[in-house]
Amino acid sequence: MADGDGEPVGRTASMTTVSRHFFGDGPDGPAFSISIIENMKEEYGLFVWPCSVVLAEYVWQQRSRFAGANVVELGAGTSLPGLVAARLGCDVTLTDDAGRLEVLDNMKQVSQLNNLSCKVVGLSWGVWDESIFSLFPQFILGADVLYETSAFDDLFATVSFLLQNFPGSVFITTYHNRSGHHLIEFLMVKWGLKCRKLLDGFSIMPSSKASKISGNIQLAEIVLNVDKA
Ligand SMILES: C[S@@+](CC[C@H](N)C(=O)[O-])C[C@H]1O[C@@H](n2cnc3c(N)ncnc32)[C@H](O)[C@@H]1O
Repeated sequence: MADGDGEPVGRTASMTTVSRHFFGDGPDGPAFSISIIENMKEEYGLFVWPCSVVLAEYVWQQRSRFAGANVVELGAGTSLPGLVAARLGCDVTLTDDAGRLEVLDNMKQVSQLNNLSCKVVGLSWGVWDESIFSLFPQFILGADVLYETSAFDDLFATVSFLLQNFPGSVFITTYHNRSGHHLIEFLMVKWGLKCRKLLDGFSIMPSSKASKISGNIQLAEIVLNVDKA
């Protein structure tokens, strides 16, 4: 995929590629890389979206906050941010729509490919099945999960539930700044949440990576609005 900093390094089947994403830029080169299996024929969930590249870079840059943390990625798709968190030593659960078995299977494969032991769980937003009750994340990650306004309410319901499961936890999300902004603000109030940090995604990107992605990407840190409770 042209988006992101990934360099295609191989083709495993007609529509499948493996891209590599590098983190850190010390005198001895990158600290590590993550390899991602992408499939070009799929619409969502099987390639690395630019929001994922920005969120993964943020996790890397904020690594001291993430040390040893319990992390859940929602709508993880190819899972780059969650894999970076796992590479930093976090206990990571990668989740995506429970009905999208091909995506969930790809998540298991990318975890293995990078010698990481992430858990992979089907978790559909707004659905209260068994899987969600065993999650107690300190960090909830979501890259490009705010793209279809009809799903926003279910997503915020799930985020609000998970934030209540662990005091002081935070939802960190990257999204394209499109017309859904007012709806996001409305739903944060509805679900007792507030935005504590809002950044232009490009402001945190090294120039070598920023030049390979496009769009107006925001990064938000969202927490429970305890003042309201
Ligand atoms: C635009 S893709 C982003 C994928 C990945 N986070 C990235 O940025 O590369 C949206 C992801 O959300 C997942 N998704 C969509 N609706 C969902 C739902 N109702 N419950 C759980 N996951 C959902 C899709 O399967 C897909 O993986």
